[in-house]
Amino acid sequence: MARATNPNELTDVSEAQIAVHWREEEYEQPSEKFKAQANMRDPRVFDRFTPDKFPDCFKEYAAMLTWFEPYKTVLDTSDAPFWKWFVGGKINASYNCVDRHLDKYRSKAAFIFVPEPESERDVVITYQELYDRVNEMAALLKGLGLKTGDRITLHMPMIPELPITMLACARLGVIHSQVFGGFSGQACGSRIHDSSSRVLITTDGYWRNGTLVDHKANADIAVRTAKELGQDVDKVLIWQRYPGNYSAKTPLVAGRDVIINDLLKQYKGTKVEPVALPGEAPLFLMYSSGTTGKPKGVQHGVGGYLAYVTATSKWILDIHPDDVYWCMADIGWITGHSYIVYGPLANAATSVMYEGVPTFPDAGRPWRIAERLGVNIFHTAPTAIRMLRKLGPEEPRKYKYHFKSMTTVGEPIEPEAWRWYFDEVGKREAVITDTWWMTETGGFLGTTVPAIHPMKPGSCGPAAPGIHIVIYDETGQEVGKGSGRAGNICIRNPWPGIMQTIWGDRDRYVKTYFGKYNKNPRSKDWRDWPFMCGDGAVQAADGYYRILGRVDDVINVAGHRLGTKEIESACLTVPEIAEAAVVPVQDELKGRVPEVYIALKPGVKAGQDVIDRVIKANEEVIGKIARPKHVYIVPDMPKTRSGKIMRRVLAAISNRRDVGDVTTLANPDVVEQIRSMVQGKEKMATQDALPEDIAKFGQTE
Ligand code: WTA
Repeated sequence: MARATNPNELTDVSEAQIAVHWREEEYEQPSEKFKAQANMRDPRVFDRFTPDKFPDCFKEYAAMLTWFEPYKTVLDTSDAPFWKWFVGGKINASYNCVDRHLDKYRSKAAFIFVPEPESERDVVITYQELYDRVNEMAALLKGLGLKTGDRITLHMPMIPELPITMLACARLGVIHSQVFGGFSGQACGSRIHDSSSRVLITTDGYWRNGTLVDHKANADIAVRTAKELGQDVDKVLIWQRYPGNYSAKTPLVAGRDVIINDLLKQYKGTKVEPVALPGEAPLFLMYSSGTTGKPKGVQHGVGGYLAYVTATSKWILDIHPDDVYWCMADIGWITGHSYIVYGPLANAATSVMYEGVPTFPDAGRPWRIAERLGVNIFHTAPTAIRMLRKLGPEEPRKYKYHFKSMTTVGEPIEPEAWRWYFDEVGKREAVITDTWWMTETGGFLGTTVPAIHPMKPGSCGPAAPGIHIVIYDETGQEVGKGSGRAGNICIRNPWPGIMQTIWGDRDRYVKTYFGKYNKNPRSKDWRDWPFMCGDGAVQAADGYYRILGRVDDVINVAGHRLGTKEIESACLTVPEIAEAAVVPVQDELKGRVPEVYIALKPGVKAGQDVIDRVIKANEEVIGKIARPKHVYIVPDMPKTRSGKIMRRVLAAISNRRDVGDVTTLANPDVVEQIRSMVQGKEKMATQDALPEDIAKFGQTE
């Protein structure tokens, strides 16, 4: 319990309730100029997507695709909640993203690749070139014996060969599982094992912050890790960052490692017919963190997913074929899959792909790229906005680009950062769409339709057409709009972009997303299966949602999901450590970062070397993004009498808050010891309420 901020309110208002009491921001309106050109500007669109028109309303999305054979059933619920969209139809994602544009757009750029070194020239890939390269790569994969339904793991950076490889897989119906390039070799290895991939596709090197990273080294670790877990990798296929030159120091392994650029020569000019896949065939896996230590392989299917990202790219991102669109996300995350590769290409977009760090070599880089290439749609995350603002608040003014539309995704954006994005980056000309969604949902859920709804800083907006949102409290009661109360945000209905299952773990899928609010596990009626997203949210009186963050022990670091348990397991690989507890801490730039508390085994001396090894373990097991802000060695963890670590108490300490009443703990004295170690001898804790995700942290244990 915390103090009420308003004397007129009940004094026993919960922290979560206080966290949602902030001033509602003023609206900003989209310009007439934007509205006049927008793909979707008719407010009556929402009449076509009312709940009584479900699921047939989504035929409109499927109609944006080219089907080899028409589907017979829009939504098959017979195996609820494993939804099957557009059943009976035949389709191919590679055909829809490439082949079907050749007549009209063959010589138009599909991708403009911008290397990180500013001295290197852009690489323009037209739709014709994309078609040729995807076909040759598909022929190569086919030549290696890969076929529909096989899984392969990709561990690639932001180079054009990544979408080319994905589309080559999609052409054959091979299920790709791209692991974010910044993840470690070990993290990649465990995902290879989970998906039982026999082939790993990687790159020799790529530029990041001025360094040519030896990425091949990670492949060797990945293969070793997978083998230890019981999965053999037969082939490691390596793209060269500089074709014809091998950029890595790590040697090739004979018989296993193959340079793709060499092997491709055999397939020059070869064409591969796109496989006509069932609408509900799997397209890809994307591993994402959850409550347990094991990442989940989120499975997306061809027809539904592609229909959803195509329609939302058109209506929400407002991509027209003559726009120049730039999404600064990494294709290794869901945003890149949906809104760099599949959605934009299905709309015949021209898309900028940037290899490196946005602030390299300085905070003017994105605006120089935008000016030079005439980018008019810009898509990024709050972390990048905060970083660019901090390092170069005046930079955007120096460049003569004009955005018509901008997006933010991945984390809640605070109104102050939103304002800078709107005023300075968008020059008050561009609309901002704050798109809330997640790996599991394939595409946007909570958003404005930019030509229809006004913007409200800090709120994602109402919802995309056909997405019917509800907020439930812990007991399953609906939390009304304008009540000022927070709850678990859920979607009442399935939609085409929804995940199909967790790879190899049907039970976990049902339990994680439906376990809390489904009352009849045997029901075949979609109305009985609200999808629990895992975020806390509050709905204002005007119907706009404000997302408060994860409520399931996932830490959203700079828009990247990391599981608390994954970080703790990484810490425990250091032999001197008896116990580890990880908590999220508010960070000015990254939103949240992990802090680690460790207790050592008896007889081990506390010292900087142990701390260094914990940091190294996180980088090796997960990747640099899991680097903890601080590592504290504590005499003991605060525990309940039954021995459970009270992560919430640690989270309060790390976030400079009052720990509250700890007298019921088994070892209350240790709390004060830890507090003074972290916060200093003097009590300096603030009385401000914790943000919802941190306040809720540790409750799912
Ligand atoms: C958070 C990224 C607030 C949220 C697309 C969600 C957001 C998690 C927003 C999913 C937003 C994403 N406002 N929070 N506009 N977008 N999130 O799976 O907590 O990497 O659950 O997908 O990011 O992260 P994921």
